[in-house]
Amino acid sequence: MAITGSRLMLALSTMLFVGAVASRLPAHGPVTPQAVDTSKLPDIGEAILTKNPYRGNPVAIKIGESAYGQNCARCHGLDAVSGGIAPDLRYMDKGEAGDEWYMERYHKGAVRDGKVYMPPMGPILGQKAGWAIRSWLDTKHQE
Ligand code: HEC
Repeated sequence: MAITGSRLMLALSTMLFVGAVASRLPAHGPVTPQAVDTSKLPDIGEAILTKNPYRGNPVAIKIGESAYGQNCARCHGLDAVSGGIAPDLRYMDKGEAGDEWYMERYHKGAVRDGKVYMPPMGPILGQKAGWAIRSWLDTKHQE
């Protein structure tokens, strides 16, 4: 009986411990944004634009592809193909129609009731990187 009891306690405390650790981790693992080198892109100032200034720019598309892979793919999926954790960004409105909403999310992330569904990326990576990613995403667009 004593053995059964302590085994039960051990099992219970193990469960509690695992539960506590799991609930403290963000749903998709720790978020460590990777700096993006945008020095080759024209400067666009600090004010947040509502239209992509780099659309179709091949340098931006290339920078955007790797920036996406380092900062967005773990939630939005490799090569922009979502595995279901976060929306599939290929289906966002392409071009000007989707630019403003894209930037809004990129800058503010998605936080509801204190839960971070998506961290704000703009303040960390900067607007230039955001538009570079958007330029690449436009090349992946699906109807
Ligand atoms: C920690 C996971 C995570 C990371 C990292 C992440 N996102 Fe998100 N993103 C989400 C989730 C979850 C949503 C849906 C939010 C909601 O339900 O409101 C979302 C929504 C979006 C949307 C709105 C999509 C739509 O159809 O309305 C855009 C745009 C977006 N993310 C862009 C990005 C970009 C660009 C990056 C990388 C710089 C990024 N996200 C990184 C989880 C993430």
